[in-house]
Amino acid sequence: MRGVPDRTVRRTTSASALPVSRRDVLRLGGGALALGALAACTPDAGTPSPGASATPTWTPPASPMRLPDGFVLGAATSAFQVEGSTTADGRGRSIWDTFAAQPGNVRGGATGDPAADHYRRWEQDVDLMAELGLDGYRFSVAWPRIQPTGSGPVNPAGVDFYRRLVDRLLERGIEPAVTLYHWDLPQPLQDRGGWAARDTASRFADYAALVFDALPDVTGPWLTINEPKTTAYVGYGSGYHAPGIRDVDQMVAAVHHQLLGHGLAVRAFRASGASGRVGIALNLQPVYPAGEGAHEAAVRADAVENRLFLDPVLRGAYPDDALGDLPGQIPADPAVLDALVQDGDLATTSEPLDVLAIQYYGVTGVDSSGQNVQLYPTSDAPWQQIHPEGMYETLVRVRDDYPTAPALVVTENGIPDRTPDGTTDDAERVEFLRAHLQQVARAADDGVDVQAYYAWSLLDNFEWAEGLDQRWGLVHVDFATQERTPKASARWYAGVVAQRAVPPA
Ligand code: FCB
Repeated sequence: MRGVPDRTVRRTTSASALPVSRRDVLRLGGGALALGALAACTPDAGTPSPGASATPTWTPPASPMRLPDGFVLGAATSAFQVEGSTTADGRGRSIWDTFAAQPGNVRGGATGDPAADHYRRWEQDVDLMAELGLDGYRFSVAWPRIQPTGSGPVNPAGVDFYRRLVDRLLERGIEPAVTLYHWDLPQPLQDRGGWAARDTASRFADYAALVFDALPDVTGPWLTINEPKTTAYVGYGSGYHAPGIRDVDQMVAAVHHQLLGHGLAVRAFRASGASGRVGIALNLQPVYPAGEGAHEAAVRADAVENRLFLDPVLRGAYPDDALGDLPGQIPADPAVLDALVQDGDLATTSEPLDVLAIQYYGVTGVDSSGQNVQLYPTSDAPWQQIHPEGMYETLVRVRDDYPTAPALVVTENGIPDRTPDGTTDDAERVEFLRAHLQQVARAADDGVDVQAYYAWSLLDNFEWAEGLDQRWGLVHVDFATQERTPKASARWYAGVVAQRAVPPA
């Protein structure tokens, strides 16, 4: 078996033939990201098409940029990352409980307990959101709280938690946006193959139907699956995330079965008669050719990063250039994917949506051999190359390339603290959020129907394999005392919400 291309493995960034963990790469001194590509690759002007050169820097206006009427400004979390209380009230075990319990998988040995203790402090956290004036809160439901073994009847105590949370949010005028799957698969389903098994798609739709029935008054968008790309590539490709599998064929199966599960859940949503809107959350990123002869590899890498997910969801077809032996491709036989797709599957994956959720963290460069190269500065998360123009480009590209695309919402965007031990003076995050929100406002000004933005994250939390060391919150959490302290960015963001506009620097 060969590995997946490095840039597809968000948190691993390895250019080697076999998938290796990000830690391995860091031990090697920075890995592919640190290659001396910077000098070779000066971004030049281009259009937002696959494999385009980077867009030139855009100069924001000196005056505040107004956001569209009705635009929702919120913040996001996910269940496993904030809740803690992993055995409370009948919650079953998830793949992240299993994975985090194995030494060496998570930095510092952190687990899902207590994370940010949100399961017990949720009222205080809603108060905090209300104090900041947030319009919306995006959270995820933990499948193992609803169905502890991944199938069968509902666990009433699990449902009650989310029922109370939604009620309180609505009371406070904060619109709930609910993700159904943010990576915490019930372990018993993993024991039967996880997302590599087709049956998991049906189990997911059953679970989704239970949640739609339990929370019929959720007004914000419902999001079926969070970042199927990350689950497939990092969970089944590099093994750096749960379930820790390194098998490119299982990885390809995980792509298809998640998208199938998504489509089945959309059907369950329509059948439930719930009044809200439904979509999927895709992490997208522009891919730029880096250096001589890189265009073709970059186009293929764009298939891997973006079109392998956008096309089946919005066009009902898989791209034909994502898998194969050529530079930039996933090194899998295209026949593997063909064999997974049964009659009618692509009609299911492309069930019409009400919203498409985009998660944007940055861009990547690809050289002629398909290797990942660094074109822009990274944050403290080495996979994150910061280029705010890529946000605009992504929004415009989806609008232009996918005429059937529904309204867009940005459901994640953010940066980790530069100081890992925690600070509330996060000027860098303020500048990041400002620059990216300006690009969202710019896209809206140019006619893109983008309706919401959720900063990642409301709270410092359990950042997967990085444990508690990478802090992405607008609000600082002291993990020893669980004390919450809004950072400068939270106060700045509250100002944006109040003004309905992004102020200039
Ligand atoms: C996204 C995940 C989210 C968090 C941020 C930093 O890919 O959806 O849970 O890890 O990255």
